Amino acid sequence: MKTVQVNASNSYRVLIGSGLLPQLGEHMKEITGNCKAAIVSDSNVYPLYGAIAARSLENAGFEVIHFVFPAGESSKNGDTYLKLLNFLADNHLTRTDCLIALGGGVVGDLTGFAAATYLRGIAYIQVPTTLLAAVDSSVGGKTAIDLTAGKNLCGAFYQPSLVLCDTDTLNTLSMDIFRDGCAEVIKYGVLYDEALFDLLAQTGISFPREDVIARCVQHKRDVVASDEFDRGARQKLNLGHTIGHGVEAHSHFQISHGKAVAIGMAIVSRAAASTGMCTTDTSDRICRVIQSFGLPIQTEFTAQQLMDAALSDKKRSGATINLILPKKIGSCVIETTAIAHLQSFIEAGL
Ligand code: GLY
Repeated sequence: MKTVQVNASNSYRVLIGSGLLPQLGEHMKEITGNCKAAIVSDSNVYPLYGAIAARSLENAGFEVIHFVFPAGESSKNGDTYLKLLNFLADNHLTRTDCLIALGGGVVGDLTGFAAATYLRGIAYIQVPTTLLAAVDSSVGGKTAIDLTAGKNLCGAFYQPSLVLCDTDTLNTLSMDIFRDGCAEVIKYGVLYDEALFDLLAQTGISFPREDVIARCVQHKRDVVASDEFDRGARQKLNLGHTIGHGVEAHSHFQISHGKAVAIGMAIVSRAAASTGMCTTDTSDRICRVIQSFGLPIQTEFTAQQLMDAALSDKKRSGATINLILPKKIGSCVIETTAIAHLQSFIEAGL
């Protein structure tokens, strides 16, 4: 097992390893007193792992209840959120009780936001069961639900009390969903870590999971410690996301988040090479690794279409938008770009 300590407004440990889920109760006992534990999960994950989590919590002396909602991004809305809050209130959860987010990013974001707001704040534990949630959304305290106007438009920064990542839960992911998480793993290599990038180039999709997840979480820990509230350095985690958001939105979410981010990273890398920000060799290496994971590097959408969607994203600030661009593998910059130049920039990367 690997442990990563996160020091933010609330400090906590991220535990990563095989066989951890049956130890959930023991690890929870280290951070809470006797209390009610409300497992929040979705209709895909709960049938697979709900009983293991509940048994572990009960064996450790916790009273366990569960709330399960239909799997999918379309559940990450105000309706499910209010149902969850009412479920907690009907079961008389108090501020000394705890929520357990058992699932991927949708479960983690929704549970975290409910935890941030129920009784003005109750503890929660993230138990990520997708690669994407393990390396990104379960760590760092970004919680949210979607509004009709867009994804993650209503949320809070609210750190969990513990993250427990049992790498065995990744074994039941479809290859497609696993690949989605790989886009975020590659992102950490491009942003911060040439050695990680080179390892991924060698191993492809069969990388050593515990080591690589821990490495990604260490990078996330460092950036969250330096900019918890996303005012500067944390924005680098959006590498590939602004244009990726355009790809996702234009496909009406038929292209998944990970594939869209992969396309976004490829486009900004080629565009950065065209302006001399990085070399063509750097952009070629990035595209080759993305492709070697079976992820796409091209889109049929036009620069105009991608720009329109990018501009509806919350990363926009007045007449400019912050783009994250590679200078070399392991080093990226935040480039404030005039909206007037955005379309030609995207065109250069298509
Ligand atoms: N997922 C990006 C962040 O946590 O800032």
